[in-house]
Amino acid sequence: MPKVTFLPGGRTVEVRPGSSILDAAWEADVDLPHNCGGVAACTTCHVWIEAGLESLSAIGDREDDKLDEAAGLAPSSRLGCQARVSDVDVVVRIPGNRIAS
Ligand code: FES
Repeated sequence: MPKVTFLPGGRTVEVRPGSSILDAAWEADVDLPHNCGGVAACTTCHVWIEAGLESLSAIGDREDDKLDEAAGLAPSSRLGCQARVSDVDVVVRIPGNRIAS
């Protein structure tokens, strides 16, 4: 199963393929805010993908629209609730002062 690692804390968890980054955060006991409940209606689950971008599901129109509102938008930005992991390990950085403890 693919692994998801959260930075800066470095916590790693194995997930079933098809799990979202938000699912992985739950599994890893990492605090990834998700104010809208995971329906791509906010940007609180915004993360940067440092490795394994090719493992993730394609960005849909709704995610694409919302990402434009994310602080610190980067080419590797994804919404954690929308990005689903396939079979390659992923390294995720949680932006700003949100710490993956
Ligand atoms: S939790 Fe709101 S967009 Fe992901």
